Amino acid sequence: MEKKELLYEGKAKKVYTTEDPDILIVSYKDDATAFNGLKKGTIVGKGAINNRMTNHIFGLLEKEGVPTHLVKELDDRETAVKKVEIVPLEVIIRNFSAGSFAKKMGMEEGIQFKCPTLEFSYKNDDLGDPFINSYYALALGLATQEEIDAITKYAFKVNEVMQKYFASLNIELIDFKIEFGRYHGQIILADEVSPDTCRLWDKDTHEKLDKDRFRRDMGNVEDAYQEVFRRLGIADRE
Ligand code: TMP
Repeated sequence: MEKKELLYEGKAKKVYTTEDPDILIVSYKDDATAFNGLKKGTIVGKGAINNRMTNHIFGLLEKEGVPTHLVKELDDRETAVKKVEIVPLEVIIRNFSAGSFAKKMGMEEGIQFKCPTLEFSYKNDDLGDPFINSYYALALGLATQEEIDAITKYAFKVNEVMQKYFASLNIELIDFKIEFGRYHGQIILADEVSPDTCRLWDKDTHEKLDKDRFRRDMGNVEDAYQEVFRRLGIADRE
């Protein structure tokens, strides 16, 4: 599988066309941004970690009945994926209070909820990805009711599978953001699942092992990404 043309360059990934109109190649960068691109930096090794981690977890999710865009990992940074039309909703699931939720609700971080929450943001950088609900999404034609139902069902399933999996690595899945796409009329999981898009805390020490270390200038950013990668047990290729 060969890259043809650069289709799109985002904040953390480049996307290339291939000879197959249904297949794209994503190439993960070490670039990191926060606060809608206001803060910029590099997290050395992040591209390879996020690529390999996403593919590993998407493989687990596929086995549990969640369809994903994964086709084939090509190398450390690059993966062939199904070409989807991204649904412009960021889907955020939370198990514990943290980040914007803790701020909005005036709560400290790390309080476990009685049950997981789900929220949507409208994927729109000019507006700063504002919080919206399913009625807004329907009214604006961002997705159909059937699509929102499928997205909601899959998002909670992703949470169930990932929560259990990360617990086996002594990691608490605090919250995460996922994105879905349309592929020949079906909703499938797209984008990535990585320390960029999840809050991952060590279960015993509550040490943050995710991008909050970059967002909040906490230091040891690379070490945190490497630690998650090490616990996944995929650092050495077979
Ligand atoms: P929040 O608490 O800042 O709303 O973030 C919720 C989750 O979404 C957290 O795991 C980090 C992730 N996230 C992204 O993946 N991209 C973003 O642009 C933001 C703001 C959050």
